[in-house]
Amino acid sequence: MKKYKICLIKGDGIGPEIIDEAVKVLDAVASCEDFDFSYEEALMGGCAYDITGDPLPQATISSAMNSDAVLFGAIGGEKWDALPREKRPESGLLRFRKELGVFANLRPAVVYDDLINASSLKPEVVKGVDLMVVRELIGGIYFGEPKGREGDKAYNTMVYSRDEIVRIARVAFDIAMERDKRVCSIDKANVLDVSQLWREVVEEVASEYPEVSLTHMYVDNAAMQLIRDPRQFDVMLTGNIFGDILSDEASMLSGSIGLLPSASVGSKIGVYEPIHGSAPDIAGQGIANPIATISSASMMLRYALGEQATADKIDAAIKQALTEGYRTKDLAQFDAKEVCSTSEIGSIIANYAVKCK
Ligand code: IPM
Ligand code: MG
Repeated sequence: MKKYKICLIKGDGIGPEIIDEAVKVLDAVASCEDFDFSYEEALMGGCAYDITGDPLPQATISSAMNSDAVLFGAIGGEKWDALPREKRPESGLLRFRKELGVFANLRPAVVYDDLINASSLKPEVVKGVDLMVVRELIGGIYFGEPKGREGDKAYNTMVYSRDEIVRIARVAFDIAMERDKRVCSIDKANVLDVSQLWREVVEEVASEYPEVSLTHMYVDNAAMQLIRDPRQFDVMLTGNIFGDILSDEASMLSGSIGLLPSASVGSKIGVYEPIHGSAPDIAGQGIANPIATISSASMMLRYALGEQATADKIDAAIKQALTEGYRTKDLAQFDAKEVCSTSEIGSIIANYAVKCK
């Protein structure tokens, strides 16, 4: 029997609770397939700092490198906010992405019909939204040099090279080929030199994909268009910080940030994680929504392990749970038949996903 090695990084706050539910669903679906999972837990974030003094211990990188994929919860919390930058949980995550070389962050935003009333936008605006943010993840202003602080002055640098733009653009166009064949590239080319290069290079890459239509949009306009008419988008191609901001915005179209998964890919080992944070304010109460993480586990099956049919089962099980009116607290006001705890909704989804028995 095939055994997939999964590196589990639970992290801080609600991380452990939501990862446990994803594992429950993975084990449930594996019971019907000719494969199995073995898990190795690794530390990252504030919990890693507390135990080892480093938010990203070397052992975590080795564990990830020796796995077939990484399933990650969330990191961070006020408790560690006063630490020097390199000790903060976020620095651990950024270094982790860089070490693994996962330069492409895929963040789908889908509006489930059964949650149409949960969106803060009108149903007629969001019905049927299905878009994918393709965010560059290991470059741009997050990593650019020089950066620093000199007394009352502080600075970061937004820098992209041609090669970095080419490789992320290709990911976006490849994904568009499997979707509606439309890429909208986001930049600020009316102001930033780095965006001017971005636009030129994306144009060049587009010529390799004659079937895909390419448009460009300034990031401020894109933020507005996402709210005005989100259905106009298929694939949104962005740099690191623009994608960080726009993907949070896009997540609210769906009604809760607790629903949206992501995949960070581009090298041998991919990282699968919900797009939300560690929500320390609700940690340990059993009210967190694990759907984003369960959905990330489904992306892991699809992209890292090539188990599309099993991923489809998980996606269908999530839909079914929502159709049947099961809701965690974040969505309790929206057509709930029953309000569930984190672990209850995990079990419901696991049961629905096990269609083989
Ligand atoms: C995200 C998060 C991270 C980021 C933080 C926690 C460093 O907001 O994954 O979107 O900015 O990339
Ligand atoms: Mg973010």
